Amino acid sequence: MRDRLQAELHFPPGFLWGTATAAHQVEGGNRNNWSAWEALGGGRIFGDHVSGRACEWWDGRAEEDFARAASLHNNALRLSVEWSRIEPEPGRWDTAALERYRAMLDDLHARGLEPMVTLHHFTNPLWLEERGAWLDEETPRLFARFAAKVAEALGERVTLWCTINEPMVYAAQSYLIGHWPPAHRSLDETFRVAAQLVRGHAAAYRAIKAVRPAAQIGFAKHQMTVAPGTPLIGHLGAGLIHYLFNEAIFGPFNGRRLNFLVRSVSIPEARGTLDWIGLQYYAAQHIYLSRSPGARLPRLEMRAPEGRPRGPRDWGELAPEQILPRLKHLYRLVRQPIYVTEAGVPDPDDSLRPAYLARTLRAVWQACMHNYPVRGFFFWSLVDNFEWAEGYDPRYRFGLYGVDFQTQERTERRSARLYRAVCAANALTAAIVREHAPEAFDVIFPTPQPVE
Ligand code: BGC
Repeated sequence: MRDRLQAELHFPPGFLWGTATAAHQVEGGNRNNWSAWEALGGGRIFGDHVSGRACEWWDGRAEEDFARAASLHNNALRLSVEWSRIEPEPGRWDTAALERYRAMLDDLHARGLEPMVTLHHFTNPLWLEERGAWLDEETPRLFARFAAKVAEALGERVTLWCTINEPMVYAAQSYLIGHWPPAHRSLDETFRVAAQLVRGHAAAYRAIKAVRPAAQIGFAKHQMTVAPGTPLIGHLGAGLIHYLFNEAIFGPFNGRRLNFLVRSVSIPEARGTLDWIGLQYYAAQHIYLSRSPGARLPRLEMRAPEGRPRGPRDWGELAPEQILPRLKHLYRLVRQPIYVTEAGVPDPDDSLRPAYLARTLRAVWQACMHNYPVRGFFFWSLVDNFEWAEGYDPRYRFGLYGVDFQTQERTERRSARLYRAVCAANALTAAIVREHAPEAFDVIFPTPQPVE
């Protein structure tokens, strides 16, 4: 045990340590496609919750939470700007909103936190939604115009830009599965939206570079571990989902077509528009062929196998070490520096999070040690927040700090103390794990086995 206690897993010098957040989930008082959807009620969102005041970032609490992030010895923070605030009507720019973001960015810098700014994190202005959102042909151009405006107004304070958060999740949730606005269910629309998001990214990349040549621009890609549950069909299904969800979108960035098997399109302008890529990893999904009672036909189902640690509902298996193969795979697809732009776990009582975080970091460290160019890690999330269709469902608490949404009171969780110690040391050490996540100690620092 004494030797194991000396172990120190050091991260590269200059590694970025932060947390990730998104405007609509924390700001409060937004008016966009999501607030309109929330207002409809009717069970669209858990408990018919509305985002409401969220974490009150817009009205001044952002700075209080930035102070918390700084207290964690973070040197970076990922946040998003809300398109509907900055451009409330097409072509009309709200200078007061830009001023508020400027103040937030100044506050981050004053605290030694390098901002990473996301331009699209699932929400659209209502005027855009009304003209068909990303199905509309003009949207990539309008998005690039917005990106240029933000880069002009805020670009002195920002180097790291993330154009779009999780394009495949947005396309699938909003146009295939139909859980998110506008709740369509169409394979054709899903494909068209995915293609438009690639075009939007490419146009925004060029628009930002024209204004801020030193900007470093990428997007954030959710990558799932997809494994077969049942033999044969499960294998085929897993291979198919892995390709469609994790790989297809990168075709145009490598000079190939965006190929969704039943349809493909060429987007040549996407080539060369990634300075980095963001990995977002949460869970492993296993693919089963299953038949629900009364249904005539079996269908593919994604879930965690029995007996494995799992998240709520259809969240999947909690498999933190799987971030390592996801990092390696993403690097093979993109060959650019990687930021882990999100990783986290829904865990209201913080019983799982410390071990989950420590095990995730061990895997990220392994990637660094194998010379994968991982440049930073942003944990999801700094504070509990509005979890989209899950609303404020108490099962979906992601924060290093808990939030009481009645009083806005924050409570520091055990996982925050673990993260603080890691970020201060730029290392995951045995002493830190022993103190803050002892339940993960033997997994992270296993007893050496004698050589036979
Ligand atoms: C999204 C976040 C979300 C988190 C947890 C990611 O897919 O980018 O907005 O809150 O997962 O579900």
